[in-house]
Amino acid sequence: MEKYNAETYGQRIADIYDDWYPSPEGPSIALLSELSHHGRALELGIGTGRIALPLKSHGIDISGIDASPAMVEKLRMKPEGKDIPVTIGDFSEVPVEGLFDLIFVVSNTFFALTTQKLQLKCLENVARHLTKNGSFLIEAFVPDLDRFDRGQTVRATDVRENEVRIEISKHDSLKQQVTSQHVVLTEKGVRFYPVTIRYAWPSELDMMARVAGLKLVNRWCDWVRTPFSANSGRHISVYEL
Ligand SMILES: C[S@@+](CC[C@H](N)C(=O)[O-])C[C@H]1O[C@@H](n2cnc3c(N)ncnc32)[C@H](O)[C@@H]1O
Repeated sequence: MEKYNAETYGQRIADIYDDWYPSPEGPSIALLSELSHHGRALELGIGTGRIALPLKSHGIDISGIDASPAMVEKLRMKPEGKDIPVTIGDFSEVPVEGLFDLIFVVSNTFFALTTQKLQLKCLENVARHLTKNGSFLIEAFVPDLDRFDRGQTVRATDVRENEVRIEISKHDSLKQQVTSQHVVLTEKGVRFYPVTIRYAWPSELDMMARVAGLKLVNRWCDWVRTPFSANSGRHISVYEL
């Protein structure tokens, strides 16, 4: 995907993002609210405001960063979406002013930074923007390389009467990158939704965080704080200075 960059994912998926990814359940909003201590919160990759809008309605002073004008346009079209400050830019740079009590990146969005160098740069910039007692939260999957057969996978993600969705992915184990196309076939034609990610195991995230001056203080496998274990498929990790 020669022309793929930080904007591409959001620009392509903005029109259907909210249909594919409905609003979250209460526990995520409750945990994020608690960690914000009702101070300032910043979401990296705020997108259409799926998380930010419920936080705002809980009285949280939330702002965000996103690379995709099309995703932010969807946020702006929603009630209260106009009032959330959003910086269009690359969240690896954390291109905003001031300090935050909570910085968070959910829905595997941290892995949208496609190299270790960019991920480390992001963590270093996050550390510079946290208050002394502030928290940085990541929600991400735990890599599962069994998904791949000789470096690739093709799987049907949805089959309906008039629509089929297929995920086609290539895995680069040296770069820890997965390049995917989510292909939607309907009677009207074919749509492509590309995404490239660079995955990292929790241990690598912890090491990068330490290099950036952050230490792990909590890790759960869901938003109701179930302890993380070797069987967990995802994690919610909280770091502090
Ligand atoms: C999977 S969506 C998540 C959106 C929102 N956080 C949610 O949970 O619904 C990822 C978002 O991150 C944005 N994004 C991806 N890479 C980015 C980057 N390097 N800098 C800023 N935003 C980025 C995309 O445009 C998209 O809006």
